[in-house]
Amino acid sequence: MPDKIRFSIVGFGNIGRRHAGQILQNADTELVAVCDIDAAAKNHVPNGVPFFTDLGDMLKITDADILCVCTPNYLHEPHTIAGLNAGMHTVVEKPMAISIAECDRMIAAAEKTGRTIFAVKQNRYNPPVQEVKKLMANHELGEIYMIQVNCFWNRGNAYYAGSDWRGKKDKDGGCLFTQFSHFVDILYYLNGPITEAQGRIHNYAHQHNTEVEDTGSFVMKAANNAIINFNFTTCAYERNMEGSITIIAEKGTVKIGGQYLNTVEYQKTEAATLPNINITAKANDYGLYQGSMSNHDKVIQNVVDVLHHNHAVMTSAEEGREVVRMIEKMYYSIS
Ligand SMILES: NC(=O)c1ccc[n+]([C@@H]2O[C@H](COP(=O)([O-])OP(=O)(O)OC[C@H]3O[C@@H](n4cnc5c(N)ncnc54)[C@H](O)[C@@H]3O)[C@@H](O)[C@H]2O)c1
Repeated sequence: MPDKIRFSIVGFGNIGRRHAGQILQNADTELVAVCDIDAAAKNHVPNGVPFFTDLGDMLKITDADILCVCTPNYLHEPHTIAGLNAGMHTVVEKPMAISIAECDRMIAAAEKTGRTIFAVKQNRYNPPVQEVKKLMANHELGEIYMIQVNCFWNRGNAYYAGSDWRGKKDKDGGCLFTQFSHFVDILYYLNGPITEAQGRIHNYAHQHNTEVEDTGSFVMKAANNAIINFNFTTCAYERNMEGSITIIAEKGTVKIGGQYLNTVEYQKTEAATLPNINITAKANDYGLYQGSMSNHDKVIQNVVDVLHHNHAVMTSAEEGREVVRMIEKMYYSIS
């Protein structure tokens, strides 16, 4: 492995450019190539970085260690497998894919090639999430009784306008994949898998621009017996309102809140008091809408730490798959 880890990126839209920014800022990484089928994306590529419109060409010509897969959800599987087969480790944006079958093929390709898939779930790094993770990992909350997840965001017309994949059933997969897989992941990260799900979804305000639901509510059972309540919508009036997780447990009640899990909003625990975190740091701001907390610097650093310092992968392919399994279970419960 060379001193600087050489990154390439496929898909140079909103999130691909964010990856590039973080790769350029990290002293241990360099950006050696970018690919996007839209030739206009070249205008955003940093000076001196080769640009390709065909992934096959980029993989043939470029000597890179990593491929960041930043294309729309339905392309995560073929692009990840192409990168692995070209001998690269891959960093794949969320959701890992939009079906378990796709995840399984990706994992099989990683095993065959001996390369690593890094699934992007940057909300795990949010300081309130890390604090509550420590409490739960140390069993300091005792038995977990109930968890409520509320995702009340806004996605307006501008978000869908001009996109050939957002809101399309076969390319996007639905809100649980595109907007709220981060919250499913944090639920999984903190409390483990679910075993049962039952719910309702409906498209109230986005029938003119999406083929998927914009609102849903699920009751689920976790493997540790906790009852989970998962509510989501992209219809919060005009702006994101809340992204929160409340945990009711034997030895404490904790709410991680804010718009994107960025505050400790409530705590009453037997264990020592958590730091009073209220992060006003920016969410990923895409101009027309806001996403999750901007932790992609830590995603890139994790790749460095794994490849250079033998650290653990923050979110493995198996965990990315588990999140997809939970989402499939939720959607299948209503069909
Ligand atoms: N981690 C996060 O917080 C976060 C935030 C935003 C998006 N995402 C994920 O990143 C992915 C991309 O989202 P986005 O908002 O950047 O979308 P986008 O539409 O802005 O960008 C996607 C880019 O991929 C390009 N593309 C499409 N097909 C291609 C192909 N065959 N080869 C090369 N390039 C191709 C498009 O031209 C476009 O530039 C999605 O999976 C999304 O869920 C993650």
